[in-house]
Order: sequence, then C-alpha cells, then structure tokens
Amino acid sequence: MAARRYTGGLVDVAAGLIARDIFVRDDIYAEELERVFARAWLFVGHESQIPEAGDFILGRMAEESVIVNRDRHGKVHVFLNNCRHRGMRVCRYDHGNAQRFACPYHAWVYSDEGRLIAVPKLESAYHNQLDRDRFGLIEARVASYHGFLFACWDPETADFEATLGDLRFYFDDYCELPDGSHGDWQAFGGIFKWRMPCNWKFAAENFAGDYYHNPSHASVDAVQLSPSGVKGRHTYDTVTRAREALKLNICVAPEGHTARGELFQDDYDYLPTYQEMAVVEDYFRDCYRQRQDRLGEKARWFGHGGTIFPNVSYSNGVQSMGTWHPVGPHETETWRIFLAPKAAPDEVKDVLRHYVIRYQGPSGLTEQDDMENWGYAHEGARGVIARRQPFHYGMGLGHERTGWPVPWLGGEILATEDVSEQNQRAFYARWAAEMDRPPRRGPA
Ligand code: FES
Ligand SMILES: [Fe+2]
Repeated sequence: MAARRYTGGLVDVAAGLIARDIFVRDDIYAEELERVFARAWLFVGHESQIPEAGDFILGRMAEESVIVNRDRHGKVHVFLNNCRHRGMRVCRYDHGNAQRFACPYHAWVYSDEGRLIAVPKLESAYHNQLDRDRFGLIEARVASYHGFLFACWDPETADFEATLGDLRFYFDDYCELPDGSHGDWQAFGGIFKWRMPCNWKFAAENFAGDYYHNPSHASVDAVQLSPSGVKGRHTYDTVTRAREALKLNICVAPEGHTARGELFQDDYDYLPTYQEMAVVEDYFRDCYRQRQDRLGEKARWFGHGGTIFPNVSYSNGVQSMGTWHPVGPHETETWRIFLAPKAAPDEVKDVLRHYVIRYQGPSGLTEQDDMENWGYAHEGARGVIARRQPFHYGMGLGHERTGWPVPWLGGEILATEDVSEQNQRAFYARWAAEMDRPPRRGPA
C-alpha cells in the first residue's frame, strides 16, 4: 500500500523516523489546527474552578478563547468566547460569576446558556429582522470525567469515555485521591500560564513517556526538591529507593494516549517522610493504608503521569494538568493547574503548594530544564541543514510487549520496562492518522 502523506511518510513510525518538518512548517501547522485540534477532546478545566451557579473561567482550545461556565441551573457549558456580530471577546475576565455576557463592542448580550438575549436597536435599526435564535454563542460538547472537564467541537467524534480507550485505568488512577477514593480535588492558585519558544508537540511527547531524558534533571535531583524528605524531585522517590519496582511505559493504541508509572511487588510498604511534619506525614500514611485496603492488588500501581492525546499531560503526585496550547508552529502557551485534596489539612495543602512552586510551572526547576531542552530542540528543527535529517524515534522498536505483566493493567496496551520510545511512536502514529484524515466541513 502506498504511504500516505504523514503515516509512513513524514511520520515513519515503523522505521522510527519523523521529519523535522512537522514541528516547524506553517502549512502543516494550519492543517493540524483543523485535523487534530478541531476534532479532538481538549482539556478545558476542573469543576472545582467553577463550583457555584454562574461561575465561569476563561479556557482555551488550541488558539481560541472559550468560556467555561456553570449556568444558573448548574449545567456546565463551553462556549467560544467570540461574538457572533464581529468576533469581539464577549468576556474579558479570567474568572468571575455572571448570568449574562455582554459584548463590549456593540453590546449584544448572551445568556449563561449561550442564547442571544438582547441586541441594541433591534427594532429601530434591525427592523426586527434579526433572528436571534440563529446567533447564540457557538457551543462545544462537554464531558466531565471525575470533575475534569473536556470539550470537543466535532459532533462526529466519539464520546469522551470511548476516546479514552484503555487509558481509563491510568487516568482513573490519576483522578483518585491519595486514599484511592474518588473524592473532591480542589484546583488552587489560579491557572499558571506562560509561553515557550517551541512547538507544542515537544512538550506533549516528552510527558508521554520520555524517561530517557532523566540526565537533564541531574541538578534538580541533587537537591531536596520533593516533599518526601529525600533528595529527588518526585513524591514517589522514597518508595522507588526503598523497594523493587518495575518502571513501565504504557501506551494505548490506536488512541495515542500514554501513561508512565511503576508496578511494585506484592509485599511493599510505603512510609514517606514529609519533612518531619507529623500532621502531613500522618495524613499521607493514613491515605496510603486506605488506598491499599480500597484497591487491593491494584494498589501496586503507582502512576507517574502521561499525555492524553493531543495536548494535555497529567502529572501524579504534584497533581497537575498541563495543557500545551499551540500559538503558531514556533510557540506554545502552557496552562497548568494544580490540585490538592479538598478535605486535606491546611498543612498538607501548604506542603503541596510549596512543592509545585519548586517543581513545575514557570518557577519550577524541573519545568525550566524541560523548557530549555524543548526550545533548543525546536531551534534544531528549523535549520535548513538540520531539517534535511529526520529525528530518531527508534528506541525499543520491535521490542514492545502486550499485556505485560498483570492483566488488570489494561487491554490493548503496550508495556515496556524502563526506557523506550514506544509511547512517542504511539502518540505520533495517532497524530499522523488524524492528519491523513480529511476534515469534515461544518455548517457555514
Ligand atoms: S462585536 Fe459583539 S456586539 Fe458587535
Ligand atoms: Fe523533564
């Protein structure tokens, strides 16, 4: 069969080679907005950011601003933040509480359910000939998964849960509180936003499964960054050092979602120290025991994080959702939220808050390492000479295994111990498949 443009062409996953063009070319970027972002489920926020009727935050889907709100009846909506008259933002506040959105330009007014409810001079200037029912805010489909909100523009895309596929076990694990229950998380500290001089895919693929880049965090690992009381940057470093574990990369094909984590032996015990703060240590030890009781054998899985195709990466422990919004081929705007268990003592929340400031976000030492790598790698994809050669994604090619090592880890997954680039290959295989699928044109 002849190679399509992307699958087997620019993205030759079977050979482990990917053209640098896909990171830097304007025409490919324009196609990506249509074929990847306009049809996928995209992460837009967490329900704890809009707890009350009328609450809203501004979100973002690819390049476009959206309003994520809870209407007066409690229903969550995602609207394009874009007036149907001339496209002005109908909402310019990052968050607030409102029962209507009045456009600042010519004052068309929309309800919290998106209907166009008032138009100045409707009678005298429009002669009552404007059909307001046709000009409500453009609304996306919304899915709330354990309080995590996703939205999608394409009516033909399958439901969110169906598109999660066998990532469900791993994302469920992420959504669980430290005690293994599905209680309330609370997003805190607003949304961290910053721009990076690189294509969004560098970040998405790194979080998808790049354990291989650990050496670039050597300086961070040399200091006590983690709240676990030992040197290292992760909450799980104490466990890793104390016990034998299989470090696994998990990818879910064909969806292209990925997970990373560790599978511990049956007889492990977990006694973290949280900087000698008794209340914090007691909290996590108690949570740990509850989690073991609640989950049984499945408590052996300790997730580290992963990427949900296309552009949101979840990080366990630090408990963040990082979304890589494209801003042209050469720039990414990162939006990251951090969450803490709502019912945890204030001391626990304080420890977690300080940890995320040290670890992730623009002030985070680990994220700074990553951004430096991605920025230079992007520059390295732009050069005329450099671009003649593809990037290499061949690590572990042909050595992927299915179903390993315990059946409850998922269905159609590949699991590889330690380092491999199978997760990145799965991510780009899905990306290429979407890029080869012509877009459906929506109603004019
Ligand atoms: S652009 Fe919104 S009322 Fe004119
Ligand atoms: Fe990193």
